[in-house]
Amino acid sequence: MTLIDGIDSVRASKIEDLFELASSMNDVINLSIGEPDADVPDVLKDAAARHIKNGKNKYGPLRGIPQLREKIAAKYAERGLDVKVENVSITMGAQNAIFAGFASVLRSGDEVIVFSPAFPTYAAVATLIGARVRFVNTTLNNGYVPDPDRLRSVINSSTRAIVINSPSNPTGAVYDRRLMRELIDVASEAGAYVLSDEVYEEFVYEGSFVSAAEFADSYDRVLVVNSFSKTLCITGWRLGYLLAPQELSERIGKVLLYGHTCPPTFAQYAILDVIDSDEIKEFVKRSREEYLRRRDVAVLALNYHGIEVCPPKGALYVFPRLPAGLDDDEFCLSLLNRERVVAVPGNTFGPGGEGHFRISITSPAQIIEEGVRRIGRFVREYVSSRGV
Ligand SMILES: Cc1ncc(COP(=O)(O)O)c(C=O)c1O
Repeated sequence: MTLIDGIDSVRASKIEDLFELASSMNDVINLSIGEPDADVPDVLKDAAARHIKNGKNKYGPLRGIPQLREKIAAKYAERGLDVKVENVSITMGAQNAIFAGFASVLRSGDEVIVFSPAFPTYAAVATLIGARVRFVNTTLNNGYVPDPDRLRSVINSSTRAIVINSPSNPTGAVYDRRLMRELIDVASEAGAYVLSDEVYEEFVYEGSFVSAAEFADSYDRVLVVNSFSKTLCITGWRLGYLLAPQELSERIGKVLLYGHTCPPTFAQYAILDVIDSDEIKEFVKRSREEYLRRRDVAVLALNYHGIEVCPPKGALYVFPRLPAGLDDDEFCLSLLNRERVVAVPGNTFGPGGEGHFRISITSPAQIIEEGVRRIGRFVREYVSSRGV
């Protein structure tokens, strides 16, 4: 299996077609985008401008500037976790961290377990580099959290990695400490790596965030992916990070070196300057409060229209279930044509997402409300026309 075989066997983003169609329409409500609508906080913009003016525009260190790596190690150390600077690599967003993490542990033919519905990148990147993906579905009935016994029944000697994503895109599930512990215990029994994607760490509305890094002391095959994209509204700056065991350091370094040479320099200095500031803490707190308000608006409106949904406990999405028997691709296409609302078909997130659709809460509350009103009207018509 070559990389080209892998590339040929993954499909490009599914929602491109919907976007293209939407671009020819007026009065479209796009609820598909997982990108914060707020602007970059001023304090961060100012810091970036300052560093651009002061010459932080050249290549920087491969794994990121040491001061930012130290800052990240310290964030975990403050929680009593054993994360050292050497474990931290600054990456071009979480996307790049997932790629570097997988590329450093997966061999052709290895198996990766992905709980579905899941962010599509995990399965795509694993496939690209020649691994086999085994989806283990989670369901609305148990809040889309994985069942450790089910994991134990499928994990096997070819399983090289399992992926955890809490808070989850698309379901908003948040795993508690006990569940995290159990999942990591099962992975450790099989000697599998755990790749934990924690990009929505700051967006938890119910329960508490638990990092897989908490278990890295007792199990040394834990990788943590994180990002500044959503928290600081800088999706275009491309900055995230990867925490990984020392034994993977050399491989990760090579992937980063030949993949992109270094993360953007000015952006790292800008983040370093402001990350602990009161302005940023306040900004993140206000963002969380606003998303919680929007989540409530979305869930209430969906309930009002009789659409089944498990209220998300975190992240930036709501993942309603369609009435049984409806095809999510067809539903989202007709929804766009009839009501000019863009939503993401659930099967984008693997087999566990079939029969669902995803809307994001990154638009203002009144837009979400209007979008859900149109969705509700459409579901009623669609269901009666199908005789479901
Ligand atoms: C779960 C999850 N992980 C990773 C990413 C990618 O983030 P980044 O912009 O940092 O590459 C996203 C983006 O939507 C995401 O939802």
